[in-house]
Amino acid sequence: MLDMPTKELIKATIPVLREHGVTLTRHFYARMFTHNPELKSIFNQGNQQNGSQQQALAMAVLAYAEHIENPGVLQPVLTMVANKHASLGIRAEHYPIVGKHLLASIREVLGDAANDELIAAWAAAYGQLADILIAQEQAIYQQAATQDGGWTGWRSFRVQQKVAESEEITSFYLVPADGGVVPDYRPGQYLSVRVMVPELGLMQPRQYSLSAAPGNAYLRISVKKETGATNTPGGMVSKVLHDSIAEGALIDVAPPMGDYFLHQDRDTPVVLISAGVGVTPKLSMLEYLAKTQPARSVQFIHACRHGGVHAFRQRVRELQQQYPGMNSTVYYETPREQDVRDRDYDRTGRIDLMAIAEYAIQPQADYYVCGPKPFMQAQIASLKALGVDAQRIHMEAFGSGGVAA
Ligand SMILES: Cc1cc2nc3c(=O)[nH]c(=O)nc-3n(C[C@H](O)[C@H](O)[C@H](O)COP(=O)(O)OP(=O)(O)OC[C@H]3O[C@@H](n4cnc5c(N)ncnc54)[C@H](O)[C@@H]3O)c2cc1C
Ligand code: HEM
Repeated sequence: MLDMPTKELIKATIPVLREHGVTLTRHFYARMFTHNPELKSIFNQGNQQNGSQQQALAMAVLAYAEHIENPGVLQPVLTMVANKHASLGIRAEHYPIVGKHLLASIREVLGDAANDELIAAWAAAYGQLADILIAQEQAIYQQAATQDGGWTGWRSFRVQQKVAESEEITSFYLVPADGGVVPDYRPGQYLSVRVMVPELGLMQPRQYSLSAAPGNAYLRISVKKETGATNTPGGMVSKVLHDSIAEGALIDVAPPMGDYFLHQDRDTPVVLISAGVGVTPKLSMLEYLAKTQPARSVQFIHACRHGGVHAFRQRVRELQQQYPGMNSTVYYETPREQDVRDRDYDRTGRIDLMAIAEYAIQPQADYYVCGPKPFMQAQIASLKALGVDAQRIHMEAFGSGGVAA
């Protein structure tokens, strides 16, 4: 427990964190990577380049300072972070390194405003957060290692098959190179893979949701190739996976983890809301539900740009035929001429939950939302406006920083 004077000192830094938080975290990362370059291959350098990781850490530090009197409200965020850390192989011995650079950065960025007392207060606060995360991560590692087919760290998997699901999404069927079994997981969870990125000369990890139900002899992920735009470079790891990892190749895989998963113990309605590649964890949930809980009511609500990028269209149609409890609503933002002819969608434009509330909002339902951040923010706003309890809204952000309900 932190004492009162420590808490007061932390609270006094809130205005400066609000104003200079990103400067602080940018300085922190630059400092840490200069002194400990070996950590570059653990951190997502794409998130470093687009600034989202600096932003995520700054928001986390600020949120911690703001909730210092009641840190319990941060527990869901810490669970998300502990899962992400464990998926990336973060260990207790990494904490002193990060702590050293964070405290030195506070001193260097705040200058005269950071006296020894303030640094000591932040050291105590960092130590407290670190202890919570280390304990949670140890429990996650323990669970991952002791289950059937389980492991921790990186395990070599062979790409058994690559299947194009749309013009930009390809599935990878991964089987253990050691011939062992694959572990169970919860529908909705993700794993990390790591590959060599030639332009960085570094191994780079990324998370991918498992896109098939548990219980197969393989783990399946489905990856969108991030092609970039005029002033935005394409995605590094998705490019390597699409272009350089062929069938038969070996790839490093961390065990399934994550705090976003279907509540398998409930029998209440499920509403799955996604856009684009955000469909992947939903497919795992849908396959699982069709197999094990066919009486459970499911609304599958999905949006994509047009038929060319509509992944898993055929699979979802098959599942709908087998699964009496399922109803599907697909939106195309800008249907092509052939889409209009084929009529593989139900509505045009973006998902508008208000317009379909009659069937999309159901008593006692759980809502699983996944897609780009602005999309998720819009869906959460609609769900809340429609009276849905925040406890029933579950979200996965395919980047850093999450989205708060
Ligand atoms: C829990 C979780 C689950 C996920 N599940 C999936 C999934 O099932 N399928 C899937 O395809 N993805 C998924 N992702 C996303 C995935 O982890 C990667 O982030 C994604 O593949 C992009 O990685 P990349 O290396 O190709 O792109 P990166 O190189 O990391 O770049 C990321 C983005 O930043 C942009 N960018 C890079 N540099 C700059 C710059 N200087 N300025 C502006 N923008 C820039 C790139 O264009 C790209 O869009 C998931 C992420 C998480 C956290
Ligand atoms: C008290 C200490 C720490 C806190 C509060 C913390 C907090 C966070 C937060 C908020 C995220 C973003 C999660 C997300 O939105 O996806 C994150 C991600 C991450 N953290 Fe930590 N962290 C701590 C310690 C560490 C340590 C010791 C390491 C090891 C070097 C580490 C490595 C990472 C990595 C690699 C990521 C993923 C970032 C990316 O690749 O984009 N963290 N952490």
